[in-house]
Amino acid sequence: MSLIYVLNGPNLNLLGKRQPHIYGHETLADVEADCRRVASELGQDIRFHQSNREYEIIDWIHEAREVAAGIVINPAAFTHTSVAILDALNTFEQPVIEVHISNVHKREAFRHHSFVSHRADGVIAGLGTEGYQLAIRRVASLIKSGDKK
Ligand code: DQA
Repeated sequence: MSLIYVLNGPNLNLLGKRQPHIYGHETLADVEADCRRVASELGQDIRFHQSNREYEIIDWIHEAREVAAGIVINPAAFTHTSVAILDALNTFEQPVIEVHISNVHKREAFRHHSFVSHRADGVIAGLGTEGYQLAIRRVASLIKSGDKK
């Protein structure tokens, strides 16, 4: 059984309450339950975290270096601002999938650029919270094949 880190950035603690016309009605606890179900179907374990603080996300990525076989990350607004999260992910040598609940490319221009995409092995955007489940499936298959491409 491998360990997958699922990391969530700022304001995602308000999922379900926050702009539901954009992000839907599922809460982060619902997303976590979905992720746990899919991971266990695939024989994987997950650690699921959310923080509004950039340094905590960086610390979890450093921790993942030691114990995780893959990362699923929705960096939220840090996607568009954080070279520090990109640098941390560049120290992680296993598969990384970036997830956005909304289709960031259909939204404001400042959401079109992602620092994290410079490192991510794949990007999912606009599939709602289902994107997390698909990202876990992809990480699990990359772990199995040992192929990040
Ligand atoms: C988001 C998109 C970001 O632009 C935004 O800042 C978020 C959430 C998404 O999941 O669609 O907080 O990452």
